[in-house]
Order: sequence, then structure tokens, then C-alpha cells
Amino acid sequence: MARIPEHDPARRPRVLSGIQPTSGSFHLGNYLGALKQWVALQETYDAFYCVVDLHAITHNPPEPDVLRQRTRAAVAQLLAAGLDPERCALFLQSHVPEHTRLTWVLECLTGFGEASRMTQFKDKSSRGNAEHSSVGLFTYPVLQAADILVYQADAVPVGEDQRQHLELTRDLAQRFNSRYGHTFTVPEPVIPKGPGKILDLQDPSAKMSKSLGDAGRVNLLDDPSAVARKIKRAVTDTGTAVHFDPVAKPGVSNLITILAAVTDRPVVDVVADFDGQGYGALKSAVADATVAFVEPFAKRTNDLLADPGELDRILAAGADRAGAVACATVAVAYERVGFLAPTAGRR
Ligand code: TRP
Repeated sequence: MARIPEHDPARRPRVLSGIQPTSGSFHLGNYLGALKQWVALQETYDAFYCVVDLHAITHNPPEPDVLRQRTRAAVAQLLAAGLDPERCALFLQSHVPEHTRLTWVLECLTGFGEASRMTQFKDKSSRGNAEHSSVGLFTYPVLQAADILVYQADAVPVGEDQRQHLELTRDLAQRFNSRYGHTFTVPEPVIPKGPGKILDLQDPSAKMSKSLGDAGRVNLLDDPSAVARKIKRAVTDTGTAVHFDPVAKPGVSNLITILAAVTDRPVVDVVADFDGQGYGALKSAVADATVAFVEPFAKRTNDLLADPGELDRILAAGADRAGAVACATVAVAYERVGFLAPTAGRR
């Protein structure tokens, strides 16, 4: 029986996460909800981060040129945010075919009803009507499970909206393990707690996302004047004092959260600065600090995009590192299922 090299108790715990190349620019919510954590985790974990381009064609697939451009922009932004190719494997999902090879096996372990209960599928498909949704959108969570399990990941940083997909991933790992023998690490979600979520600037009852209007969203690649304008026009709350109270003052609290995040300071310290001052002073400070954050970020991203050869080299190295782990896992999983080993030439 092939052995899984990953089941070595001495290895560093492993983290895996993925992000879709959904638009030409990530926004502040992506930065705080995902990118910033990824950067921190690469210091202590054996980190694998992938841009999930296969997932990007499950729903409203972009034109091929647009997908290419978004994928490069996603990689450049992850590097600009601080991912270090020496400290993590940064790669494209489509470059490691073991994700889809494992997906098939996991699909055969997933109940049709079980997949039908995924709320993200229900949300996305009912807007466009389930009858017209792709089968890829339906099996999206199974591909996500394969993304995770193929690396034997211990920890998966994700947003609250991914909790159900992580539960499915854990169920599939346990189901495979009990049917075929212990093969997969059962991963734990790492979900940021507390008021860390960035909300829409125009509608602070919703989280910042690309599906709402542009005025409510600070894109990391927006030009500085647009960033300042969006922040100055942000919806605030009744009253005048700058207090952190997400229930009574969601708009103001959101601005405080943004300021704390882009300046890397605790919320209480930020609030203390505005003692006796009003919303106008807060907005100016948030606008200045956010511009000071996004301007060099956009410059780093554009410098990276200007050197596609270097991006390709980083992605090739990432895919090599990722592929080695993924191949070892799939070889064992296929053997456990009962597939005969391929002849040498086809391996
Ligand atoms: N579904 C995730 C999201 O929308 C993206 C994703 C795909 C992912 N594969 C993953 C996240 C694996 C974590 C691990 O945010």
C-alpha cells in the first residue's frame, strides 16, 4: 500500500485557502477578510494558496480574455498584499489537475440531496433559476472539498459564508476515511470572529461585495480620488459622536473598522483619537489612511503585472510544490478506491 507522506506528526500544520478571480480588482472586504489573514498565516503554517480559476467558470463565465486578465490581476494582488513565494505555494487551481481527479471520487461519495442543500448554490441558482444553472455550479462545493483534501490541510481560513462548504468537506473526508481507510486529514475552518467584517459604504447592513453598487465598495486598484470620494460619501448614522457600536451605528463603526485595519491599530485606539470630534473628521482620516494604503498597493500590483514572465515563474514554482503534494494524495486515494495503478508511461 502506498503511504501518505503527509501523515507525519512532525510536519508543520498546513493551511490551504482559495479565492476566485471574480473581478479585475479585489476590494477592501477581500483584503481584510482573506488576504491579510493569508499573509499572517504563511509565517507559522505550511501554506498553500490558490486562485480558483476553475470555480470562476461555474456561474456567469467571463470571456476568456477577461478571465486571463483577472487571473493575472488576482495573483499580482496577492503578491502585492504580502504573500511571499518563498513562504507559501501560490498557484492556479487549473495548473494542478489532481483537484479535478479527486473531485470525481468525492462526487461519487456526495448525495444528490446533500449537494442540493448547499445554501450558496440555492442563492446563486435561484437568482438565475436552478433549471438554467450549470452542473458545475451544483458541484462547486465538491471541487472546493477536493481543493482542501488533496493537500491534507489542517486549517482553512474562510469567511462565515463558507462554513457549510467546510462542513461538507469534513463530512466527505470522514466518509472516505471510514469507507476506504484513513486517507484524508479532516480540516478545521478558521473563521475570523468579532466585528472584523467590512460593510458596504452605501448599505452598512450588507457586507462589502462586488454584487452591490460600485459606490459602496473600495476596490484596491481604484484610483486615489475615487477612494476618497467613496469614503466621503459613505452613509453614516444619526448622532454626531464617533462611537464604535455596530448595532446602533453600523456606518460609523464600519469606517472605524476600516481605519483600524488599514493602519493596523486596535479599534479602541482609533476611537480614542476622535474624542470630541465628529463624523467629518473621521471620514477625512479614513479617506487619507485608505488612500495611503491603496496607492502603494496598486503600484506594487501594476509593477508585477508589467512583468508577466516573473508572474509565470512564480506560478510554475507554486504549481510544482502543490502538484507534488496533490499527486501523492491522489495516488493513495485512487489505490484505496480500487483503481489499478496506471502503467509507467501514463503516470
Ligand atoms: N468558495 C470559496 C469562496 O467563495 C473559494 C474557494 C474555493 C475556497 N476553493 C477553496 C476557499 C478552498 C477555501 C478553500 O470564498
